[in-house]
Amino acid sequence: MSREVPERLLAALRDARHVCVLTGAGVSAESGVPTFREAQEGLWSKYRAEDLATPEAFLADPALIWRWYRWRRGVVGNVEPNPGHRAIARLAGVVPRLTLVTQNVDGLHRRAGSRDVIELHGNLFEDRCFADGTLHAGDDGLDVPTCPDCGGHLRPGVVWFGEAVPEPALDASCAAAADCDVFLSVGTSSLVYPAAGLAKQNGAVVAEINPNPTSQAAGFDFALAGNSGIVLPELVDWLAL
Ligand code: APR
Repeated sequence: MSREVPERLLAALRDARHVCVLTGAGVSAESGVPTFREAQEGLWSKYRAEDLATPEAFLADPALIWRWYRWRRGVVGNVEPNPGHRAIARLAGVVPRLTLVTQNVDGLHRRAGSRDVIELHGNLFEDRCFADGTLHAGDDGLDVPTCPDCGGHLRPGVVWFGEAVPEPALDASCAAAADCDVFLSVGTSSLVYPAAGLAKQNGAVVAEINPNPTSQAAGFDFALAGNSGIVLPELVDWLAL
């Protein structure tokens, strides 16, 4: 019997047809990804992240916003996926169907081997045309990179303050929460996307993995108080036995 993972949760996972995993900043904490707000260091410490991550700031000074995002790409590009990310990628090979939804823009799930990740807030390493919305990989090194399709300014492919989550990502994540049999809420304060509540209403077994149980945890079936980098590998090891 596992020390961290209750047998009833393992049984629900073994029987599950569809597992949905929602991750937040906590899953990347053990990789050393600074949270959005604590990331402001050195030259950037005089700016508030909330004042830079907006469409208005980009329109006012796109070169400044690009300098900030290139610095953030450098910071995140220097960290590695941790055992929590890798366990989720492994879980996809153990259950019949897995939908992974993340609020993180760091791309660490993809780097850990997860496929078809629903990135609710976009991806730090993608570029999107400010004018036509098309996605492009990598930037062309100009102060403000340009769209190869229309010549307009490219912007980082993330969701900024004041912007809505793209509808396809939101629809897909709600559909998965409504359809799944087990929902794992990992490393998120669950305040931004109350998807766990939707899963619970639809009869899923809901478990939270967080060293600091959230205020919503009382309404879930399980609250595993631990770091995702420890609890998730243990859970997948037991399932794979
Ligand atoms: N393992 C699991 N959970 C952890 C760990 C860990 N090692 N370390 C911290 N946590 C938990 C914290 O206890 C907290 O509940 O991760 C959660 C992180 O919560 P938030 O910082 O609120 O992150 P998140 O839920 O992803 O929401 C932040 O708000 O600013 C926006 O776009 C931004 O997506 C981001 C969202």
